[in-house]
Amino acid sequence: MNAKRVVVVTGGASGIGLGICKLFSENGHPVAMLDVQVQALEREAAALRAGGANIIALKADVSSRKEVEEAYAAVRRSLGPISIVVANAGYSRAEAFLAMSQQAWQQMIDVNLNGAFHSIQAAVPDMVEHKWGRIVTISSNAAQWGAADRAHYAAAKGGVIGLTKALARELAVHGITVNTIPPSLVDTPLARRGAAAGEVPPLEVIAQHIPIARPGTPEDIANACEFLCSDKASYITGQEINVNGGIYM
Ligand SMILES: NC(=O)c1ccc[n+]([C@@H]2O[C@H](COP(=O)([O-])OP(=O)(O)OC[C@H]3O[C@@H](n4cnc5c(N)ncnc54)[C@H](O)[C@@H]3O)[C@@H](O)[C@H]2O)c1
Repeated sequence: MNAKRVVVVTGGASGIGLGICKLFSENGHPVAMLDVQVQALEREAAALRAGGANIIALKADVSSRKEVEEAYAAVRRSLGPISIVVANAGYSRAEAFLAMSQQAWQQMIDVNLNGAFHSIQAAVPDMVEHKWGRIVTISSNAAQWGAADRAHYAAAKGGVIGLTKALARELAVHGITVNTIPPSLVDTPLARRGAAAGEVPPLEVIAQHIPIARPGTPEDIANACEFLCSDKASYITGQEINVNGGIYM
């Protein structure tokens, strides 16, 4: 990527989002990290700035339209128009379907699906105006092959994949590409929490079922994301780019 583009990464304070913030900022792009974890945001942003990154860190809950719009207004004031959005913020939790409350269902959809809607819609006017944009959503392998005890999560991430493909068709005319990366097992605090709670086996055990016998890293996802957001990827849109060690093909 040669041009310096303003990048927004939601859920940027941890795991995959943090890996994406690091890679884009190492490549000289101004990056806005959005997250709900204020302390982690400030700690990670300070570490990146110490390495020379042009980073702003903003508290924003992606399920709140108001907070997303306020954060984006702050990004525009500090860094300029937004060219790249990585809609990554999300969470997962194991809950058997019959025990799943409406509230748990709603919250999962609000963060993982509605959060992507708000995060993307608030940035697209900038991309349309400048006739260039890149949008990457982080969905999940759970939407591709199902996930017992995670019907809400799989449904939300399936919605993210549908959103990605619909927008790819609608926005192509404006020079905007929209793709999704559906990870399977990535070694992040989210995955470690699930294993520690006994919701999934230890990562090392799951890794035995992955052809490339290890969990993914945030850097694995960030590398693919960076390519999708580059000028070199201008003919790739509407795709599910599997970065999963071959566990699902
Ligand atoms: N780690 C995996 O194995 C895996 C697999 C498939 C999909 N994913 C997806 O990848 C994305 C990143 O997950 P991760 O593993 O890096 O998790 P993580 O918990 O390490 O990081 C997620 C970040 O999102 C933030 N976040 C959560 N809810 C938010 C909200 N409402 N508003 C703003 N920020 C919010 C969290 O505070 C956290 O910093 C998620 O969408 C997740 O569903 C992860």
